[in-house]
Order: sequence, then structure tokens, then C-alpha cells
Amino acid sequence: MWTYPRVVAHRGGGILAPENTMAALRCAVAYGFHAVEFDVMAVRGDGLVLMHDPVRGRTVPGEGMIADFTLEELSSMDAGSWHSPPFCGEPVVSFADAAQFCLAHDVWMNAEIKPASGVEIRTGYLVAEACKRLPVGRVLLSSFSVDALAAAQDVAPEVPRAWLVDAVPADWESTLRRLGASALHVNARCLTAAQALAVKGAGFGLFCYTVNEPDQARALRAIGVDAICTDRLDLIGPYFFDQAA
Ligand code: G3P
Ligand code: MG
Repeated sequence: MWTYPRVVAHRGGGILAPENTMAALRCAVAYGFHAVEFDVMAVRGDGLVLMHDPVRGRTVPGEGMIADFTLEELSSMDAGSWHSPPFCGEPVVSFADAAQFCLAHDVWMNAEIKPASGVEIRTGYLVAEACKRLPVGRVLLSSFSVDALAAAQDVAPEVPRAWLVDAVPADWESTLRRLGASALHVNARCLTAAQALAVKGAGFGLFCYTVNEPDQARALRAIGVDAICTDRLDLIGPYFFDQAA
């Protein structure tokens, strides 16, 4: 059962702002969104930042593993210039600051645990520890990493979890049950109508990423998908799914 918003701004502001930054979160709010997805990575010294890639280069200039820098070092790095000149100097943001912003603006969070390779358990543990301290019902954890989700379950069983997959795997139901997860997050391009029926029939929430075409959003809604995330906040608004139902 899905009790959360139905259209979620992917990486904060989708294509309209540099991903996983405070500017992205502000963009979501400016477009009327009450739900965002972002990626959370552990860094040196147990800090947490919003970050998709494990290495510098694409969104943060320079070289090296993100996990090898401290929160303080990352906070002075530019995560906005790659996007467009107006965002030049937009810093890497901590998970703590992002969560505070979301709470203050009534924005629900899908915090995707994004571990660097080899630190799945530690990352799941740290993200869940941080989410434990947030008000109930404001965050859903998700991850491609079963190990990260299992660690989150150990440390904060009360914080809801979803398993992220590309195509729906054969063991989807047993894995969701083992993880105590409430939802399956599936690549929209891979989901079939029969799979949607099975997941919903088993009582789980069903979420698709990343949906940027209104027609595709309508088609997913028609086969029972509960919610989507989108990069196109300008094309698929926060209430699109309710209207499409
Ligand atoms: O959480 C859904 C989606 O964000 C997963 O893929 O690579 O954009 O983090 P990615
Ligand atoms: Mg993500």
C-alpha cells in the first residue's frame, strides 16, 4: 500500500537544477512538489552527502573518490557549475541540511542509499541512523543494495524501506519480505503489466523511475503503478498521477 505522494522530483529538481543540491530542492518547491528523491552517500568521517556518482568528475570537478573526502571538504566543492552558469558555486550539500530543508518545506523524502562499492553495510547503517531521528512518515529509504537495506533494517526497522531494481527479478517477493520492505521501485522501461499486477496483488507499493514522458506516466498509472519519479518537473506536475487515475 502506497501512502506517499505520487509524483516525486528525481534527484531534487530533475533536469532543471544541478542534481542532489540545495538548489535542486528549492527548484522542487518552486514547482509545487511535496516529494523528492535524492541519493545519499557516506563520506570520510561518517558524514553523509547528497551524491550520485562515487567519483568526482561529472558533477564535482576534480578527481578521486567522494568517500575519501570529509563533509567539510566536500561542502566547499562546486556541485553546480556542470549544470549551467546560474548554479556556479552551488555546494555539495549534507544530508542533514537537505533533510532540514525538506522538513521545513513539508517535502517528503525518498532517500536512496547510494553506497560506494564495498561500504554498502556501513552506508545503510549511517543513513538509517540519521533517518531514525527524523519525524515519522517523512522519509522512505530505498537502495539497489540488499546489504544496505538489511543494515538499515537492523538499525532502524521503523523507517520504511523499498528495494530498487532494474527489471523485476524472480525473487522479488521473498526479498521484499526478508527485508521487511513495503515497496518495489522498478525501472519504468522494464516493468510489465503482469508484474505490476503481481506486485500490487501481493500488497506492496509499486514505484517507477524515471518517467519523463506524460504518456508513459499515464500508461504506468493505468497498470496500477502507485508513484513515479521524474526529471521533467515542468511536464509532469506533482498532481499528474491523481489526475491520470
Ligand atoms: O531512486 C530511483 C532512481 O534514482 C534510481 O537510479 O541512478 O537515478 O539513482 P539513479
Ligand atoms: Mg537515485
